[in-house]
Amino acid sequence: MSALGIIGSSAMDELPGFEQSRASNETTPFGEPSSRLLHGQLYGEPVIFLARHGDGQNIAPHLINYRANVWAFQHAGVEQILAVNVVGGISKRCVSGSLIIPDDLIDYTYGRDQTFFDGTEHGLRHIEFSPPYDENLRQRLSAAASAAEIEIIPDGIHGVMQGPRLETAAEIQRLKRDGCEIVGMTGMPEATLASEIGVAYACCGIVVNQAAGIGSGSIHMEIEATKAEGMGIFQKLLRQFLAS
Ligand code: HPA
Repeated sequence: MSALGIIGSSAMDELPGFEQSRASNETTPFGEPSSRLLHGQLYGEPVIFLARHGDGQNIAPHLINYRANVWAFQHAGVEQILAVNVVGGISKRCVSGSLIIPDDLIDYTYGRDQTFFDGTEHGLRHIEFSPPYDENLRQRLSAAASAAEIEIIPDGIHGVMQGPRLETAAEIQRLKRDGCEIVGMTGMPEATLASEIGVAYACCGIVVNQAAGIGSGSIHMEIEATKAEGMGIFQKLLRQFLAS
């Protein structure tokens, strides 16, 4: 079995329990990935981990080299990527501390390198992108959640905003009208790029705050108060996922 690729979110510098065997510095036709690829085992299963925002967590969402990250994974033999994204909750069911496996997305980002196939060196391709997430991987995540008795939200639309600032309340109302249940900044173009080169890709959203105008009080304080809880539940899910 090929290693599971895990793309770590902000607030996720490391994978507890990860036994690293080596780190590789990849170079790709699209430049350098965000960080070294860390190869090793998690709960006895092969895993390759990459910190999306870099080792120092200092790469802004719109400056992440998504193409290099996804390409480096594929080059390392990864056939499945589990992307972890911390997100804000928009719908009632997406309360802080919950986990969601979205089944669709809306891309509100701009100015990011969206494709490997822009008509230059690698040709032009118009891939199908519906559904944007790998159904098999999603179902396996849901099954792992059931087996571990973890309550997750099994579907929902992920709105991907440009950042790095948080949204206005009006922007969140617009996303809500569009049907988005969660909002993040890093889900795209990562998902497209994985699709383009045939790597199965699913997202696990960790809701760390109520989106702007939904909750009351400081979003930053809410994120600080909730992220450890969300990460803890995610670790439990990951453990069961790798065991099944
Ligand atoms: N908006 C966008 N991205 C986020 C949020 C949010 O409220 N919380 C965590 N990532």
